[in-house]
Amino acid sequence: MRITYHGHSCFLIETTGHRLLIDPFISGNPLATARADSIECDFILLSHGHDDHTLDALPIAKRCGATIVAAFELAEYLGAQGATVHDMNPGGARDFPFGRLKLTPAIHSSSTGGGQNPVYLGQPCGLLLKADGKTVYHAGDTALFSDMQLIARGGIDLAMLPIGDNYTMGIDDAVDALGFLKPALAVPMHYNTFPPIQTDPAKFVAKAAAAGFKARAMAIGETIGI
Ligand code: NI
Ligand code: MN
Repeated sequence: MRITYHGHSCFLIETTGHRLLIDPFISGNPLATARADSIECDFILLSHGHDDHTLDALPIAKRCGATIVAAFELAEYLGAQGATVHDMNPGGARDFPFGRLKLTPAIHSSSTGGGQNPVYLGQPCGLLLKADGKTVYHAGDTALFSDMQLIARGGIDLAMLPIGDNYTMGIDDAVDALGFLKPALAVPMHYNTFPPIQTDPAKFVAKAAAAGFKARAMAIGETIGI
């Protein structure tokens, strides 16, 4: 399995035979190195409806013929705009051509638009993917919560965790999350894209190591294999 970081909370996961794009926010991210109008994928997995996770989902899904998998309200919202979608909700898992995906709880919100009339888009989620014999947990945007211990049943090979604080866990809570999740490897996400989430991922890596966990910050555009 190959994992490429495209900035913020966006990752491309390449399994044997399928390309899964998580939380595409590329065209709106000045730090991104990929192009939303040329990236290729077969499925798009969305953690929740905030624009910094969904901005490019609809055009990429339509161009690639990719299926969007998301929580019920978010999937319905994008389906009504012409995307092929599959709707789920937290606690539910399903066997897809690429492997098994479960939506997990996340403590956050989920909406689009702002001002006086935000559109609420159901439950925010994490993504628990089993494919190619590996288990990958993308926490989405979330606070720390002790039920991460339940998500970790069966073991986690790779965990992507937000560290930017303000909207999600900060570094210290993300390190405590490692105590619940015990992943073989953790990768930080959701930092430095906007002023309120400026932080130093090296501090997360160092504090994770001090707690006995392996973490590494991926450069934007970098690919790793697990
Ligand atoms: Ni969010
Ligand atoms: Mn976010």
